[in-house]
Amino acid sequence: MKKHILILACFYFVYGIKAQEKIMVNAINRESTSLNGYWKYIVDPYENGFYNYRYEPFENQENPGNGAFFTNAKRKSKSDLVEYDFDKMDSLKVPGDWNSQKEKLFYYEGTLWYKKSFDYTKKQEDSRVFVYFGASNYETDVYLNGKKLGKHIGGFTPFQFEISKLLKPKGNYIVVKVDNKRKRDAVPTLNTDWWNYGGITREVKLIETSSTFISDYQLYLDDEDTKIITGQIELNGFKKAEQEITINIPELGINEKLKTDHTGKCTIKLKSKNIRYWSPESPKLYDVTISTQEDKISDQIGFRTIKTKGAEILINEKSLFLKGISIHEESPINGGRCNSKEDAKKLLEYAQSLGCNYVRLAHYPHNEYMVRLADKMGILVWEENPVYWTISWDNEETYLNAQNQISEVIRRDKNRASVIIWSMANETPNSDTRNEFLTKLAKFTKEQDPTRLISAALEQHDYNGNPNTRTIDDPFAEIVDVLSFNQYIGWYDGEIEKCQRIKWKITQDKPVIISEFGAGAKYGLHGEKDDRWTEEYQEFLYQETLKMVDGIEQLKGISPWVLVDFKSPRRVLPEIQDNYNRKGLISEKGEKKKAFFVLKEYYETKK
Ligand code: GCU
Repeated sequence: MKKHILILACFYFVYGIKAQEKIMVNAINRESTSLNGYWKYIVDPYENGFYNYRYEPFENQENPGNGAFFTNAKRKSKSDLVEYDFDKMDSLKVPGDWNSQKEKLFYYEGTLWYKKSFDYTKKQEDSRVFVYFGASNYETDVYLNGKKLGKHIGGFTPFQFEISKLLKPKGNYIVVKVDNKRKRDAVPTLNTDWWNYGGITREVKLIETSSTFISDYQLYLDDEDTKIITGQIELNGFKKAEQEITINIPELGINEKLKTDHTGKCTIKLKSKNIRYWSPESPKLYDVTISTQEDKISDQIGFRTIKTKGAEILINEKSLFLKGISIHEESPINGGRCNSKEDAKKLLEYAQSLGCNYVRLAHYPHNEYMVRLADKMGILVWEENPVYWTISWDNEETYLNAQNQISEVIRRDKNRASVIIWSMANETPNSDTRNEFLTKLAKFTKEQDPTRLISAALEQHDYNGNPNTRTIDDPFAEIVDVLSFNQYIGWYDGEIEKCQRIKWKITQDKPVIISEFGAGAKYGLHGEKDDRWTEEYQEFLYQETLKMVDGIEQLKGISPWVLVDFKSPRRVLPEIQDNYNRKGLISEKGEKKKAFFVLKEYYETKK
């Protein structure tokens, strides 16, 4: 235990993170002041604005001088030496990755600095103010008025810093250093199959709260008695103890008063006879208001149960087949990282038009609009931690990074009925260190959120050396609630006809999801069904694969790879890929390929 604490301390020291404060739950519904819009930026590949010429960080120096970019230095006299000036630079739109905004930043992987000036007058003298980021890829250092607020690591989860004491009514300037260099010990690691979009990719806003506010809550159905809504609430602030909290759910006739304990927490047990359970067919959301004397927050929450029983996945005790599709977070409207409600709407409407009741958000947490819209549309969601391929399994800081990222997405989405599965990893090679890493991560995830299922795309191999029988052969299968695997017979693994002779033998008594299968096709390219890259090839692969998998008794869901063609530096075949992974059922221009209709028809017949 001592070793773990020491490593944890080193992790925070190395990364200069004060105990990274946790985001306030449901920040999206809080009154806020947006800092979205145009920010000045400086491209800084040598990190000249962060280190002096002896490679010492300016921020560790008493007087950082005019070299540090986070001081937003201005020449005060004619003899002053200042070698940068944010206000004379070009601007980038926030939210938004830099690669898709500027031609010269298309391939850029490195450090880039943002600066935004703003005024802010607090509404109340004793209120608190936080700056909240929806996400920023990948390592983000934030400064306000020349002072370091902190650092966040991870490209796809929200974070916040309190700025109550640093804020001025006039002339504030926030400077943000974003470094999207891929690193061996990062999460994800160096090699992925998606574009490494860098920058402040989601919203930035100022949230003002009362001095003691509602920072955390989770409400869900009691496992034993689904007429009871249970959960917990936590306050943040000085007057946490013995505070009265009111929970109001008008449609359920609930208006309950509770008291926090000396730590500012309270548990919930609310009985109600007539709860309409959330389900894909009937995605009922209730208006929930939680209030104290000083604070009030409203949310829209659906109540349902999700569990497995043998090889069944049960929603509200009813067995369900997950008719899904995998989705990357790439805007079908403008390209680049999604960051708007419109992006979420278009992607989920594509999935709905396919007949989906489920989406696999690959391979990292998507923006919050996706899960909140999925709540409303009745689309079930698999959310994934970016523990992808060949992670540094034996590096404790890598583990703590992965743990921090899953904890952040759980904190953001734990009240979303649509979210049913937390995925620990994707296609990771089996080894003792990998199994230890993932088992620890799964245990941590269950502690953070015991109400949802855990899965991961596992390894599958020949059964007892028989090349015509496949099986899930992976120690981590013992740990997950739902088995899942990617298989590419007919694309990476033999010819499409191979589907006709392969049988699947699942030895574990658990539900199975095939998390990926697919083939590349260039929209509009036609030919014979054995002609790779044609729509006919992809169509034939879908036909043969669906026949092959239909025979798997424990199969309770599929999420073929992938909804829309997406950018990847690995895909460079001229006139066909041109930096796109072409396994989409829809092109990046929104054109539906023939295989789209094969899957659509399959889902129409699937019960
Ligand atoms: C892998 C991986 C995906 C990748 C896909 C492909 O299974 O999970 O991220 O894009 O195969 O090769 O297209």
